[in-house]
Amino acid sequence: MWLPCGCASKCVVASLSRRVFRSYFHVLGGRRHNIAAFMPESAGFEGVSDCSALQEFSVSNSESFWAAAARQRLSWISPFHTVQDCDLSRGRIKWFEGGKLNVSVNCLDRHVHTCPERVALIWERDEPGSEFKVTYRQLLEMTCRLGNLLRRHGVKRGDCVTIYMPSCPLAVASMLACARIGAAHNVVFAGFSAEALAERIRDAQSSTVITVNQGVRGGKLTELKKTVDTAVQSCPTVQQVFVAMRTENPVAMTAKDVAMEEEMQKEDVVCEPAAMDSEDVLFLLYTSGSTGKPKGLVHTQAGYLLYAALTHRYVFSYHDGDVFGCVADIGWITGHSYSVYGPLANGGTSVLFESTPIYPDPGRYWEMVQRLKINQFYGAPTAIRLLLKYGNQWVHKYDRSTLKTLGSVGEPINTEAWEWYHTVVGDGRCPVVDTWWQTETGGICITPRPSNPDAEIVPGMAMRPFFGIKPALMDTEGEVLTSNHTSGALCIAQPWPGMARTIHNNHQRFIETYCQPYPGYFFTGDGAYRSKEGYYQITGRLDDVINVSGHRIGTAEIEDVVNQCSQVAESAVIGYSHNIKGEGVYAFVVLKKGMDVEEMDLSRQLNDLVSKKIAKYACPDCIQFIQRLPKTRSGKIMRRVLRKVVEQDLNGLGDLSTLDDPAAVQEIIEGHRKLSDPTPMLPACPGFQRDDSEDVWLLLSPFNLVNSHWPPPHSFNWTSWYWEKQKDTVNILHRFRQTLEQSKRG
Ligand code: WTA
Repeated sequence: MWLPCGCASKCVVASLSRRVFRSYFHVLGGRRHNIAAFMPESAGFEGVSDCSALQEFSVSNSESFWAAAARQRLSWISPFHTVQDCDLSRGRIKWFEGGKLNVSVNCLDRHVHTCPERVALIWERDEPGSEFKVTYRQLLEMTCRLGNLLRRHGVKRGDCVTIYMPSCPLAVASMLACARIGAAHNVVFAGFSAEALAERIRDAQSSTVITVNQGVRGGKLTELKKTVDTAVQSCPTVQQVFVAMRTENPVAMTAKDVAMEEEMQKEDVVCEPAAMDSEDVLFLLYTSGSTGKPKGLVHTQAGYLLYAALTHRYVFSYHDGDVFGCVADIGWITGHSYSVYGPLANGGTSVLFESTPIYPDPGRYWEMVQRLKINQFYGAPTAIRLLLKYGNQWVHKYDRSTLKTLGSVGEPINTEAWEWYHTVVGDGRCPVVDTWWQTETGGICITPRPSNPDAEIVPGMAMRPFFGIKPALMDTEGEVLTSNHTSGALCIAQPWPGMARTIHNNHQRFIETYCQPYPGYFFTGDGAYRSKEGYYQITGRLDDVINVSGHRIGTAEIEDVVNQCSQVAESAVIGYSHNIKGEGVYAFVVLKKGMDVEEMDLSRQLNDLVSKKIAKYACPDCIQFIQRLPKTRSGKIMRRVLRKVVEQDLNGLGDLSTLDDPAAVQEIIEGHRKLSDPTPMLPACPGFQRDDSEDVWLLLSPFNLVNSHWPPPHSFNWTSWYWEKQKDTVNILHRFRQTLEQSKRG
């Protein structure tokens, strides 16, 4: 039985059209809000009368602010004696030392005491309309049984358990069971390949893996257990794999496998919580950086939980009884902080979304909002952009009157998507909070709310720092930019409790990446613009990390895989602006000398390889085979030049005098033009759409997928066709050119 307990990118435009939006929720008949009612702790903060004063206080009296919040909002086994002991320049970050607590007790037991039958999780299963509710009492029971099971199988405090599961109550119980017995968890997104999973298991030195027999997403089954079987073959540390049954289909069990639900039934429903130190590890979460090797960011107990809880409560204005709908997968930090830890620490009701925005149709989110009566909806711009293309009828069909706040996360939200989210989805009633943060920051750092009742919200801007966050912009010399209406490297000037503490097994990399670039500051890797009014707008990554549909991926990771292909000499991968995914992946590939290969076949091979070694979302949207890469005389690839070629900004190529061989650029421009600019007037060819009025063929490729003819007026579902065909785009291009050649010859 499944439930055993019965139960922009870089080109964001700074000058946005300013449409002021004022909150309806804070302005009640023009009354100023009562700051002590808003945040009880603030009653003890001198001179704080409104939200912006509270923000200023939280930064200038950081210790008082966080100490009061930690006492008020967490249940401690023993109190902390030191609020913080941090030295950012040395990568030393410690909060609430001396304190002991248990995160699962904070997320479960204390709510079970007051409201055991309150719904903790609403599992929105892939199968439409088949939601499953789990109360706090049931979730505690599930967690305890699982905690006891793990203990009985030798999992100890300080061990690390890898969780490879889709969003579901048992995944949440697995995370909380680890927290209960003092083990760290390492959730790996269930879309990652066996090799990517294996790499993360090995790096985390996990001896225990928890998975499901099969995943179900968008009506399709994925063989998660088989993926784990393949992964553990190259993970000598793994001794046991717990397998839960998401579907009824049996899977082959090996000697290492344990039937999880069956074994859980045998366990006691009481499990003694471990008394954890504030700075003990709560979890590792791997994310991409600018090298080929993903980094396991480490979050600890008290500071992380407090920050997730406080941001969840105040950014979204979450109140008791609300239903919070974060649709991110639990495999990402958003799922950790806003599907699991934030809402549960606040005793909230959290939706776990297992499906996709377009399954069974593009009304999925809004039908779910109506059925589950969701009050706060938190999603990604890539999904909003996709749904916008399907038209308003899918939204209007459903009652969204329960919605109070709409959130956006993971990548810049363009003005068009923001406006649509606000006016169509939220009927112009709900504040849209564009939340900027990272795996490293643990929780939301820059966001329009909380703020004073009449404070404006500018579309597409993250705007204001959260409590305790002091942003700083740096110039190219490493100096702090003090003026407004300026852009620079985004740093955070003082520590906050939610920040990551280190990179697992590599503190030196942590220091080099985040602490050394601007000594004394935490460097985010993002660029930002600060407007005349002092509002922040994120302008995109400054390193070689790209953001595909809200998923971070290092270009070096993809290059490493492409370069493993025996025909490939070298490659360079860049991100380019993509209408739906935010950024697409463009690979320039140089073949080894004398290789006689069919480019089309090789493109397919390379896509398969990336999918196998990393995940489907990392596959190149376009592969261009070239003779040589543009390099400086010292051998450095000039990615700037490649980006300009792909953006078709040839005037912006800049100074090419340092190039080893300037002719390389001309070849690349020519090759790109051929790939992206199919000649009109051709016979029919799959992947193309005829536009007789213009007398042209429109190519459905990353280059012009979304054009004025989108979506086509037929019932045919072109968008899902597009996603299906995504990896075939390059092949289609080749086929198209072959057809062109033939027709010319004919
Ligand atoms: C990007 C996701 C613009 C940014 C929570 C950051 C954003 C990276 C926004 C972190 C936003 C996240 N506006 N860009 N509102 N939110 N990003 O670690 O580049 O998966 O550094 O965390 O996503 O991605 P991560």
